[in-house]
Amino acid sequence: MNFSIFFFLIISFIVFSSTTACDRCVHKSKVSYFPSSSSLSAGACGYGSMAMSFNGGYVAASNPSLYRHGVGCGACFQIRCKNKMCSTSGVKVILTDMSKSNTTSFVLAKPAFEALAKPGMASEMKNFSILDVAYKRIPCAYKRNLSVIVEESSEKPSNLVIKFLFQGGQTDIVAVDVAQVGSSDWRYMTQSYNGPVWNTNRAPAGPLQMRMVVTGGYDGKWIWADKQVIPIEWKIGSVYDLGVQISDIAQEGCSPCDTDEWK
Ligand SMILES: *[C@@H]1O[C@H](CO)[C@@H](O)[C@H](O)[C@H]1NC(C)=O
Ligand SMILES: *[C@@H]1O[C@H](CO)[C@@H](O)[C@H](O)[C@H]1NC(C)=O
Ligand SMILES: *[C@@H]1O[C@H](CO)[C@@H](O)[C@H](O)[C@H]1NC(C)=O
Repeated sequence: MNFSIFFFLIISFIVFSSTTACDRCVHKSKVSYFPSSSSLSAGACGYGSMAMSFNGGYVAASNPSLYRHGVGCGACFQIRCKNKMCSTSGVKVILTDMSKSNTTSFVLAKPAFEALAKPGMASEMKNFSILDVAYKRIPCAYKRNLSVIVEESSEKPSNLVIKFLFQGGQTDIVAVDVAQVGSSDWRYMTQSYNGPVWNTNRAPAGPLQMRMVVTGGYDGKWIWADKQVIPIEWKIGSVYDLGVQISDIAQEGCSPCDTDEWK
């Protein structure tokens, strides 16, 4: 094999495997919890008070490596602890915040921490400030369609900043374009490093359709929301339904690791 191609493959392998880090695997770590249930509502992902309505308040802050500069916002995880007070299924949480702790992978909202326990054991569980757990990223399942909220920093006519909400599946949105409905003049949006936020200062006049690229399997895949998503008279703070949902699961370039230890 040509040496430079071989070298390129090695480098790509290293880069690829270190960025994806085998997200389907079960990891051993520790969690703690926020004593106040409101702590997470000002979270780094910027969901505000809406966060407490996600998933019955089962939300969590993660360390920076899972938060991934905001790309991890909205990702879902199943967490289980192991002592005799712990339930077998554990809890399913949505990432809404970042925690700088380097001893725990997650800091859980109180309802999520209590839900790690068997029925009736929740108050004793809280005697532990830190718990050994196993966790795994899982697909998110919402009863709603993928949606966007128009962020406060948007400015008419052409400065549009949106945040994704209710993103299903177990993947990342890696590209977003907007165009006027019926037009093929797509304008790309740029991801901001503060949560699942995308912006453009070249938004066409509405009504707007959208298309996104997600990682499905090992490849990129287009998701089309090619009807009106955002009306001409869009408003800051309004939530718009894309009429589609994502169910893809990204595969990683590492060997399967989750076949029988996690049911
Ligand atoms: C994080 O780790 C560093 C190096 O191990 C340590 O010095 C620091 O005190 C830790 N910070 C926290 C908040 O535990
Ligand atoms: C845990 O806390 C409860 C009060 O919330 C207390 O009654 C119980 O004795 C504590 N259990 C342990 C094992 O410390
Ligand atoms: C999702 O979008 C489809 C297509 O617009 C619509 O028929 C459906 O009612 C929406 N689902 C929910 C839960 O809103």
